[in-house]
Amino acid sequence: MKSLFRKREGEVSPSDMSTFGNFARQFAEIRAFIDRGIEAFCGESSPLVPPRLRDSMAYSLLAGGKRLRPALCLKGAELFGIEGERAFPLALSFEMIHTASLIHDDLPAMDDDVLRRGKATNHVLFGEATAILAGDALMALAFEYPLRELPEKGIAPERICSALSLLASALGPSGICGGQVLDMDGELLSEETPWRIARQKTAVLLSAAVTTGAILGGADEGAQASLRAYGNHLGTAFQIVDDILDVTSTAEELGKTPGKDAAQKKKTFVAVYGMEKALSLASEQTALAVTALENLPGDTAFFSGLADYLTERTF
Ligand code: IPE
Ligand code: IPE
Ligand code: MG
Ligand code: MG
Ligand code: MG
Repeated sequence: MKSLFRKREGEVSPSDMSTFGNFARQFAEIRAFIDRGIEAFCGESSPLVPPRLRDSMAYSLLAGGKRLRPALCLKGAELFGIEGERAFPLALSFEMIHTASLIHDDLPAMDDDVLRRGKATNHVLFGEATAILAGDALMALAFEYPLRELPEKGIAPERICSALSLLASALGPSGICGGQVLDMDGELLSEETPWRIARQKTAVLLSAAVTTGAILGGADEGAQASLRAYGNHLGTAFQIVDDILDVTSTAEELGKTPGKDAAQKKKTFVAVYGMEKALSLASEQTALAVTALENLPGDTAFFSGLADYLTERTF
């Protein structure tokens, strides 16, 4: 699918419109499904969980967001014959890890932000100690919950093990934790820096989301490699656009504070390459993501539609 937004000035064909319409409808449906599942999950509570911790976790999980990672996981599973209901516990794990990483990212010791998903950040409302623990608890639950639920849905233990091992490495020292350290440290700026940061702090989780979904359905090595490549290029494009929006967008549109990357001297794609080159790198990574889909079985239109949609997004 060609970019609709860039082509606004007159050259959008009826077939582009209907492809985009199909993608938009599917994305809206899957987000509604995810939101219903998260609401139901937050409604179940264990008497062992202190109310303050429960409220803090639920506050950030229910604050909204694009639900990109669970959508990727569900669509990866669907491509290999696993329906949404069965893959949902794993999809929710990705949103838990992502939400935890955002709670921690916003802490005063990290990006020190007061606005997230259009609302006060977790530590502003619940205090730093609770915010740290809510993030920790979400990360642990991201493993406890699918380990309990997926066997009940008839998913084979070796597939669960393989999916959760990929999730763990996406979160760990060579994934998000490592990427966040690179994002914060003062090492010299080189052209390689933003690529590594984007890969580790962002792309690994998107890539793991779509790949583990497919693993639940028994995807072979070749299909897993294609999905990993798709997720890595999609995630890199996604972080380039996030860096661009930090410069060009507003708090109202983003739901988070713009202008923080330059203020905190972050090693973003815009800082290293300048705005124009960053825009073309985002397009290049999007095209590579779409190319990586070529050898996959089944209908991959959702994935190519998502790649275009994310490059053109304004929030
Ligand atoms: C923000 O991710 C953090 C990055 C990896 C850049 P999203 O833009 O997906 O955040 P939500 O979930 O929509 O709030
Ligand atoms: C955060 O990157 C990535 C993770 C949470 C792992 P950013 O710091 O760029 O995300 P935003 O811009 O605050 O959403
Ligand atoms: Mg950050
Ligand atoms: Mg941040
Ligand atoms: Mg950012």
